[in-house]
Amino acid sequence: TEALRIGIAGLGTVGAALFSAITARHTMLTQICGREIRIVAVSARDRGRDRGIDLSGVTWFDDPVELARSGEIDVLVELMGGDSDPALSTVRTALGRGVHVVTANKALLARHGVDLATIAEEHGVLLNFEAAVAGGIPVIKAMRESLTGNSISRVYGILNGTCNYILTRMQRENMGFADCLAEAQRLGYAEADPAFDIEGNDTAHKLAILTSLAFGTKIACDEVYIEGITNITIDDIHAADELGYRIKLLGVAQRTETGIEQRVHPTMVPKDSMIAQVDGVTNAVTIEADILGELMLSGPGAGGDATASAVLGDIADIAKSRPGHQHGPALGRPAASLEPYRQAE
Ligand code: NDP
Ligand code: HSE
Repeated sequence: TEALRIGIAGLGTVGAALFSAITARHTMLTQICGREIRIVAVSARDRGRDRGIDLSGVTWFDDPVELARSGEIDVLVELMGGDSDPALSTVRTALGRGVHVVTANKALLARHGVDLATIAEEHGVLLNFEAAVAGGIPVIKAMRESLTGNSISRVYGILNGTCNYILTRMQRENMGFADCLAEAQRLGYAEADPAFDIEGNDTAHKLAILTSLAFGTKIACDEVYIEGITNITIDDIHAADELGYRIKLLGVAQRTETGIEQRVHPTMVPKDSMIAQVDGVTNAVTIEADILGELMLSGPGAGGDATASAVLGDIADIAKSRPGHQHGPALGRPAASLEPYRQAE
């Protein structure tokens, strides 16, 4: 069997961790996937930057769109970030040329996910995005595959590692907001522009993706009510503590009598609840489903290695997939049936 040729666009925190993971596990991955996973090309902005990885034998592209249209790759891994170009044109170009795409970019998917999923379907390729929601937690797989046939009434959780890290250190160590954020940035948890984290937009992007998968609706991140954690003080955290609560930034999506409600805001949760115990960079997602009941998944929600783990799982799925085989419903399609979606159009 021929090698699966990988092109990575973006070699920052996640891209460099992915490069190292694939290089270090080359033999094992070949055995598990039944074919070699070979990184043949990469793209980033600064060619001279030391990334702690050996790029010899790998083709460098200054322009990620050129990488996508090079004809040299079977899978384009988009790890640049941002909801516009070059990420958008890179992913569009790859899918349009019949190249599979794996991305961790929730901002891009929240804005353009349904369009991109449609292009992928039209060209018979996969658009995989496990790392886009809750870092290393396999929540997309759970929603697209394991919960098939369930009707979901509510999905909620802690979806941003940076915010949970900040709130945890403020509470435990009395550390100031700015110092906690600087530490989250140093550890590679925060977005390139951390305003997306602390103002709640990153949680909203992830929630909008989960909502689409849970309820089969188009992604509607503009309909999410958003309040971040920028106004939370150490005094607020101590006042909540005295009353028996922790403050967590939650994303909540649920069915109501009038439609689907989506909201992101700091929430007081009882100290002895499971979600209150979710600390630091850990994320947690709870899904209420009619056949299964209540499922809570928790694990590392950000950071290079945790995120690379989810990206690698998506690449391995492609390596093992049969041509034309779709793993689960595309974004914006209900899990159980396509009919409600078609009727709604
Ligand atoms: P970084 O900012 O660390 O890395 C971004 C990379 O993209 C850099 O290598 C940069 O190049 C490259 N890049 C940016 N713009 C361009 C461009 N115009 N042309 C070519 N290359 C470009 O980001 P992260 O690795 O942290 O995040 C990557 C993606 O993964 C984002 O979508 C993020 O939201 C998502 N994500 C991140 C997680 C995390 O914990 N960090 C967790 C889950 C998802 P250069 O290095 O030369 O500057
Ligand atoms: N900045 C994001 C976070 C990265 O802190 O959760 C993971 O999506």
